[in-house]
Amino acid sequence: MIRVGIVGVGNVASMFVQSVELYRRSPGEPVGLIHTNVGGYGIGDIKVVYAIDVSRHKVGRDLSEAVFAKPNRVPRLIELPETGVIVRMGRVLDGVAEHMVEDFAPSDERQPTLEELADELRSYSVDVLVNLLPVGSREATRFYAEVAASAGVAFVNAIPEFVASDPRYSRLFEESGSLLLGDDIKGQLGSTAVHRALASLIAMRGGEVVESYQLNVGGNTDFKNMLDQLRLYSKRVSKTVAVATTQPAPERAVDRIFAGPSGYVPFLGNTKVSYIYIKALGFMGLPVVIDLKLTVDDKAMASAVLVDVVRLAKALVERGVRGSPGWASSFYFKHPPEPARSEEEALASLYEKLDELGIPVEPRRLPAWMLKKPLGEDPRYAFLRR
Ligand SMILES: NC(=O)c1ccc[n+]([C@@H]2O[C@H](COP(=O)([O-])OP(=O)(O)OC[C@H]3O[C@@H](n4cnc5c(N)ncnc54)[C@H](O)[C@@H]3O)[C@@H](O)[C@H]2O)c1
Repeated sequence: MIRVGIVGVGNVASMFVQSVELYRRSPGEPVGLIHTNVGGYGIGDIKVVYAIDVSRHKVGRDLSEAVFAKPNRVPRLIELPETGVIVRMGRVLDGVAEHMVEDFAPSDERQPTLEELADELRSYSVDVLVNLLPVGSREATRFYAEVAASAGVAFVNAIPEFVASDPRYSRLFEESGSLLLGDDIKGQLGSTAVHRALASLIAMRGGEVVESYQLNVGGNTDFKNMLDQLRLYSKRVSKTVAVATTQPAPERAVDRIFAGPSGYVPFLGNTKVSYIYIKALGFMGLPVVIDLKLTVDDKAMASAVLVDVVRLAKALVERGVRGSPGWASSFYFKHPPEPARSEEEALASLYEKLDELGIPVEPRRLPAWMLKKPLGEDPRYAFLRR
């Protein structure tokens, strides 16, 4: 069992809680999971046992109701049983931007201290605390990371605040004997994953991206919150660097790539629409242009990765891994401590380390040749030899 705590019971949390319950109940071969088994854990081993928010619509309510409270927009995909997990009051700090006060409606309940929250994490035996605060929560993210470190609990930073990629926090977690993964969840087939895959394909085939943008629009509080340009800075850095690091000259590429949220369109709800444009130079310096429109359920994309990452965190802690190991984060996060040039490279180095540590992971998602399994021996390709 993996005992998960959540900071920020917003739309991602709603999809995450519902998806765990949906997969637990659905019989047969699960569809859409990156890995069915991570460290011997299935998705049904995940249990949310603790949750913090600051909204008066959510604090004090059972998690099964709070995930549907306004301003959350994820529809009711499943009837959730009462969980007995009552959403606790957190510290507001910079979690609520001025233009979001009406939406997030901060409660005037007393705000707990760091020590009180660390005691709670210990008393609920939380294994992994997941940070799902709004973008721009610089202080609040560091506060909750310190709560986790002080309680010796693993911390997954799903948002674009740079803690896992900050050596000071890596040291803090190492010293406290706990684990830190992050930063900024890279959705399953979200705009960053798709943009990176195209850019790394161009580099792999001898081309180079000379200019590119990724314009994203959506209709939930995540997008509304990001209307404040000052809160957006780290999100842009995270997304831009994620694409630039696929290129032969990342430093040159970074100035020619623009990636980030670009508009709030309320009727879209949790649907995210992403417009990706890439101009690359190919053979003889002639241009190649890609224009692509991607439409996804933004919160499903994030939850698909979270269900892997919380199991990974638990398995790593069990094997004594501490601090902020770059190889553990580069496949799953946009701004990891050590970026990889491609998704394949990130996944290969994750599998290699997990094999060294004796942590099982199934199914293997790399091409057969990267798994050092000749095509000829793979029964899935038998039809090619007929
Ligand atoms: N595909 C994705 O959805 C995706 C990908 C990467 C990163 N993220 C990031 O994940 C985060 C969560 O996204 P979301 O859509 O659930 O956001 P959301 O706006 O739906 O939810 C944020 C929640 O945080 C709560 N909150 C605000 N300040 C708080 C504080 N100080 N303490 C505790 N709770 C507080 C709010 O009341 C709200 O319930 C965002 O930063 C988002 O950018 C999402």
